[in-house]
Amino acid sequence: MKKIVVLISGSGANLQAIIDACQAGEINGKIVSVISNKAKAYGLTRAKKAHIPTALFERKNFANNLEMDRAIAKHIETVEADLVVLAGYMKILSDEFTMRFAGKILNIHPSLLPKYKGLHTYQQALEAGETEHGTTVHFVTPELDSGAIILQAKVPIFPEDEVSDIEERVKAQEIQIYPLVIKWFTTDRLKEKNGKAYLDGQLLPENGYANE
Ligand code: GAR
Repeated sequence: MKKIVVLISGSGANLQAIIDACQAGEINGKIVSVISNKAKAYGLTRAKKAHIPTALFERKNFANNLEMDRAIAKHIETVEADLVVLAGYMKILSDEFTMRFAGKILNIHPSLLPKYKGLHTYQQALEAGETEHGTTVHFVTPELDSGAIILQAKVPIFPEDEVSDIEERVKAQEIQIYPLVIKWFTTDRLKEKNGKAYLDGQLLPENGYANE
């Protein structure tokens, strides 16, 4: 069984989906630590309710970002994690950190990457007049939101939509696709090699699995 750490900053809806999938035996893994950079993140409460150890790393307690990332990395190594899952961790990680865990860090980003990297993706899609939006699970590399894409889910945007409508639709997809990708990883079906993602030894297309 693989050991998983999950990094969060907020509500933890994705974390909850992963907790549930582990408890249901759908993921061949155990969350050994939930790490947050925000003391008030509701995800910490979710972890405690599920009896999962938590760790808080606040920026104010470190001299700089790199020192904070080094402390988090040390913690991840201490708990001997096989997989690092970013689930709404809203702080950019240093190159040193992402390279230290290369091939075993996943992120979920609320856009159809490579479109709309960074923040406010819903607003950006709406303002650009898009008729669809979505979410992407990808391997993490030093360049922000740019690692190999594993799986995407699309949702429609309707003319009368507000940001909250699209967000709700996207989040409903996220809690389906993130546990699935983690399941693939924890059963050794999913690998990253030379910046590319492979499922069952097959190179995944640029936009991930089953993106026709
Ligand atoms: C998710 O929608 C995730 O895609 C997004 O944060 C949200 C966290 O929600 N991540 C990013 O924007 C990363 N760039 P949650 O805390 O309820 O899972």
